[in-house]
Amino acid sequence: MTVPEVLTTIGRVRESIGAERRASRRVALVPTMGALHAGHLALVRRARELADTVIVSIFVNPLQFGPGEDLDRYPRTLEADVAALADAGVDYVFAPTAREMYPSGRSETLVTAGHIGTLYEGASRPGHFDGVLTIVSKLFNVTRPDIAVFGQKDAQQVFLVARMVAELDVPVEIEVVPTVREQDGLALSSRNRFLDEGQRAMALTISESLRAAEAAASEGLGEALAEATAAFGDHDAIALDYLVVVDPATFLPVVDDFHGLAVVLVAARVGPTRLIDNAAIVLG
Ligand code: PAF
Repeated sequence: MTVPEVLTTIGRVRESIGAERRASRRVALVPTMGALHAGHLALVRRARELADTVIVSIFVNPLQFGPGEDLDRYPRTLEADVAALADAGVDYVFAPTAREMYPSGRSETLVTAGHIGTLYEGASRPGHFDGVLTIVSKLFNVTRPDIAVFGQKDAQQVFLVARMVAELDVPVEIEVVPTVREQDGLALSSRNRFLDEGQRAMALTISESLRAAEAAASEGLGEALAEATAAFGDHDAIALDYLVVVDPATFLPVVDDFHGLAVVLVAARVGPTRLIDNAAIVLG
């Protein structure tokens, strides 16, 4: 077990990671907002395989939350997170305050996510992806990793981060790790802890709808969408936000005669908790 060094300032990260780089150690960053679960630990395991030094950032980024969203309610469990990361062999935890990351209380300069950033999650959460890309850029600039590891569960985020890295020539390799699920299919999320028993049972509809899309995919887009939507039935306890099939190359919705690999994105609200999930399907 390595007890990770917890760094709270940009200066301390630069010193520590600078020393690692001077020693020719390959550095992997796992950006998180904390409230860690087995899905995050899978990212850390992958980072451990790919690099000599692993740094996990834990920062609930105010810039990616809109007015009325769950910034205040978002779980903050630093002590438990650091303990879990010690078991996972992490070298450093970067856990800055909001003031350390945004000394003036905000950032006038934003990395914008463009049109795709306004669709799906971005339509429900305006400005969310500009906030994500801005903090991810800052984390890359502070930690200067060789590799950064993200989870496929946030498929749109992964697409936008990878595109930013390509378009802005950011010298980092992006590694994507498959979504970790409970045995019954529910995708792990820091927000699952808000679900009571009934809500958790309802939340299963989300992964069931993805399985329904997968099962119907060989019959084409219309059938896949119809089956996935039908899985939601007419329950009041779960409100479907969006269900869309996108082309993984462009992240635009696929058209009727599209064949081949596509991604189904779904978001739904169970009580006050908003959950997202996605799955790859092959449209026939
Ligand atoms: O996926 C997340 O937890 C966040 O969006 C990230 C990438 C850590 C940026 O705040």
